[in-house]
Amino acid sequence: MSDASVPASAHPAAPGPSIMRLAVHREDVAVGDEIVRHRLLSRVIHWVVALFFMVALLTGMPIYSPVFGWMATLFGGLSVCRWLHAWSGIAFSVASAVMVLHWLSDMKLVPHDLKFNLVQYMQFSAAEDPEIGKYNPGQKLFFWTIPLVTLMVLLSGIPLWWPTKFGSTLRQVCIIVHDVGFIMWFVAIVGHVYLGTAAEPGTFRSMTRGTVTKAWARLHHPKWFRDVTGDRKE
Ligand code: HEM
Repeated sequence: MSDASVPASAHPAAPGPSIMRLAVHREDVAVGDEIVRHRLLSRVIHWVVALFFMVALLTGMPIYSPVFGWMATLFGGLSVCRWLHAWSGIAFSVASAVMVLHWLSDMKLVPHDLKFNLVQYMQFSAAEDPEIGKYNPGQKLFFWTIPLVTLMVLLSGIPLWWPTKFGSTLRQVCIIVHDVGFIMWFVAIVGHVYLGTAAEPGTFRSMTRGTVTKAWARLHHPKWFRDVTGDRKE
């Protein structure tokens, strides 16, 4: 996915609209004061995953507990939620698999990632590590949680979809696994949305416009900033 073949200096100070055109096909390219972080395909895949996730979440909650029963009316009742939840869950799993393959090369863990302190990072209590590349270890951890929890929720969902075809012990185990997976998803996504919006201003636009400012990149992903711009000054 990375576009290291394009030197930063190839687009030194082009006027505004050109970076938007560039962000359709290219990423990791600096133009003026901005850097393309996510090309169009990455953004479309991400938002398709997020859409199916939201549908599966909102239709699953009224099935999960009567406390959320009122949410079923948003989709036309509990019986609609039952089939929509299963199908949106499958669509989410397929879209997630595409996303994992799409981002695989950028999400490989490197030895330096082991030095990452998640608690310190979440507290914003220390300066960002100058060796943080395009994705920090927390983002990579979140990324690798996706196939694990998706598989867990997908497989445990099968006996719940066709309850008469499986034994009751297996069904009981699957209910627990499915619910634990759901809670893990919920916590992970709340953290992810918080970090991608309110906690780090300037991040959300990377998934809409596709770009970030150089100041944002220098602050949060210093190594990626240096690699893209060639700027070695701290
Ligand atoms: C619905 C609200 C969501 C918002 C507002 C949101 C926002 C964002 C933003 C702004 C980024 C870019 C971060 C960066 O460039 O550093 C991002 C990346 C990413 N998103 Fe989301 N996202 C949402 C839902 C989801 C869902 C449901 C998933 C998967 C289950 C997901 C998976 C990812 C992954 C794997 C990345 C790349 C790694 C990372 O930045 O953590 N997102 N998201």
